[in-house]
Amino acid sequence: MDEPNGPYAVELRQLTKQFPGRGGGQPVTAVDHVSLQIGQGEFFTLLGPSGCGKTTTLRMIAGFELPTAGDLLIQGRAMTNIPPNGRPVNTVFQNYALFPHMTVADNVAFGLRVKRVSKAEREQRVQEALALVQLSDLRQRRPAQLSGGQQQRVALARAIVNQPQVLLLDEPLGALDLKLRREMQLELKHLQAHLGITFIYVTHDQEEALTMSDRIAVMQQGVVQQAADPVTIYEHPVNRFVADFIGESNFLAARVAATTNGRTEVDLLHGAWRLPVSLNGHGAASQPALTITVRPEKVLLAPPAELLNGAMAGSKLYCAQGVVQEAVYIGTDTRYQVALPTGESLVVRAPNMRQRGQDYKVGDTVQVAVYEEDLRPLWG
Ligand SMILES: Nc1ncnc2c1ncn2[C@@H]1O[C@H](COP(=O)(O)OP(=O)(O)OP(=O)(O)O)[C@@H](O)[C@H]1O
Ligand SMILES: [Mg+2]
Repeated sequence: MDEPNGPYAVELRQLTKQFPGRGGGQPVTAVDHVSLQIGQGEFFTLLGPSGCGKTTTLRMIAGFELPTAGDLLIQGRAMTNIPPNGRPVNTVFQNYALFPHMTVADNVAFGLRVKRVSKAEREQRVQEALALVQLSDLRQRRPAQLSGGQQQRVALARAIVNQPQVLLLDEPLGALDLKLRREMQLELKHLQAHLGITFIYVTHDQEEALTMSDRIAVMQQGVVQQAADPVTIYEHPVNRFVADFIGESNFLAARVAATTNGRTEVDLLHGAWRLPVSLNGHGAASQPALTITVRPEKVLLAPPAELLNGAMAGSKLYCAQGVVQEAVYIGTDTRYQVALPTGESLVVRAPNMRQRGQDYKVGDTVQVAVYEEDLRPLWG
């Protein structure tokens, strides 16, 4: 991200958290030298598998957990000695944590009451917050009389009524069913755009992260593997972990074949494909072996004899023969597993828009084809 004019909304500098090991065991490094710069008004997501340190990172930003090392700045101010209630942030938790005996309106007003905001202002702000999450009609209900999605909205209203500069959300949609979850994803994104508040969102759901975020940090074992916008994360993963965690990926073994005049070529499929790659600062000589990755939806399938016409001008198409090992119809597309002569295999997702008679059965010989730019090198 470019250096902004003002301060970043949130900046982590080499932020680290170690927990003592249980029963005198090894300490656990939950967050390991994480550096991130989150811009004003950004929808920023921490994504990664269970235990990778997402919640711990969020709790340090909120002030519920103290870092072992590193610095944390919010709006350019060091937060080291600032308690949670002194930070311009609010948190929405997965379990909502609503007060069951209070009405919706009283739940939302609670924080303002604690801060001794006047009754008139309180009433006005609660009204606005409830209108934003479309709950004005249900203000007198109690949490038990609401659906999961409605309870989630109360939790949101309760956080935004405080007008935080940064909203922290820890798997806020985790308890909802898939359909409601999808609806709420879009609602949340619209709400964020409308309010202009910086959102730091935690999820282990890669589709959710891609749908909602301006930028995503993919974490593994306390370390940020890649931080970038959704398209870059999906199209240009920096390593195998990111390629594998976000969506589905094929991996093909490759070797550096030649480097001439600064141009490096690698061999795939035992030399059947020779592909130019950009080194991106990686030393080819020290790493003769690498992996080439390709997304299943970028692999084309054709009958064995059919020439692939209509190849994009100026883009080389790599072809190979294979045998269908598995074919699973998933509605929107069919997922094939195709064995290649080298013993490797490719997962192919073919959209169901073909003419009838164009789908393949187990045992069929097929031609697979991939455009050059869809074959991506992964170094290290
Ligand atoms: N209070 C604690 N004491 C000791 N270890 C902890 C503590 N809190 C978290 N950990 C450990 O730190 C690591 C990161 O935990 P964290 O809760 O941040 O993961 P997460 O990414 O939020 O996972 P999930 O998706 O399951 O919520 C885990 O190994 C966890 O067991
Ligand atoms: Mg967590």
